[in-house]
Amino acid sequence: METALVDLPTGAYSITIGGGVRDRIAPFVKKLSGVDRCVIITDHTVSGLHLPALTSALSIPHFVAIVPDGEDSKSLTQAAQVYDRLAAERVERSDLIIALGGGVVGDLAGFVAGTWMRGIRFIQVPTTIEAAVDASVGGKTGVNHPRGKNLIGVFYQPSAVFIDTDLLATLPDRDFRAGLAESIKHGLIRDPALLTWHEQNAARILSRDADALTHLIAANCRIKAEVVVADERESGLRAILNHGHTIGHAIEHALAHELRHGECVGLGMIAENHIAAGRGWPIAGDVQRIIDGLAALGLPTRLPRQIEADDIYALCLQDKKVAGGQIRFQLLEAVGRPVSASDVTADEIGGAVAAIAPVSSA
Ligand code: GLY
Repeated sequence: METALVDLPTGAYSITIGGGVRDRIAPFVKKLSGVDRCVIITDHTVSGLHLPALTSALSIPHFVAIVPDGEDSKSLTQAAQVYDRLAAERVERSDLIIALGGGVVGDLAGFVAGTWMRGIRFIQVPTTIEAAVDASVGGKTGVNHPRGKNLIGVFYQPSAVFIDTDLLATLPDRDFRAGLAESIKHGLIRDPALLTWHEQNAARILSRDADALTHLIAANCRIKAEVVVADERESGLRAILNHGHTIGHAIEHALAHELRHGECVGLGMIAENHIAAGRGWPIAGDVQRIIDGLAALGLPTRLPRQIEADDIYALCLQDKKVAGGQIRFQLLEAVGRPVSASDVTADEIGGAVAAIAPVSSA
């Protein structure tokens, strides 16, 4: 078992990682002052797979709110249905929400927790790699608006995060691998040794070796915690976590969610590092290494089908981080040396899209 601490001035919380750590949830909840009841928010798939493992160890009154699987549950409509349930069950300020699931459940449940009665406590129990290494830590919660992802939300920190690596065993391979892109990203922006560790341990990671997963998740959570503590509300440093995401989100949109988020982030990282390499920055010497590292973890390194560079450029302009008409990229001068760039040109984006073109059109 490993732990990490998110040591925010407004209140620190712990992240506990390892096999069987779900059994630590009940004792933790009992120690939180005044919690009489828990509300577990989860989705259909996760409830079928993991709800009994959680509830059998939870010797506290609780009820379960199950939402449909998938991104569509990150909506105000779904949040309203959960609020209706909380109202029907007379959920009070002292009750605690447990988010059991991947990023969608965590973002929705965190948003509901942050807004119900102006905020009730919640804990995150992520069941995907993506949520374990990224979304469950740092307090970004919210739902989507038809005009864009995550447009409605609050920064609202959990009281604790429990990452039970046993719960990752049921993840389909493709989802498991997709989440690893965020882990590579953390190594690239902040921890060159973590990047090397991925390269040296790809087989152990892919075989879901318990020690390797615990190490990987703990290393990621520590990086995430450090960045969030330095800049909780993304007014500066936290923006580096968007490395690979500007082009990644554009790809996600252009392909209408044909690829997983992490797969798009992986492609976005290759493309964005191609831009940085084209500027003559030292990262040029590592671009092939990044491609190889993603490939070794079974992530795509080329688009599955052609997307026009103009379309990617137009989609980048719709990114939430556009300010004053300028797209703000988080590039890397070198591994571990991120830099913000608002002067990336349409031509550079064209070259970057060409670098990840499908093999047939490369
Ligand atoms: N996933 C990016 C962040 O938490 O800021």
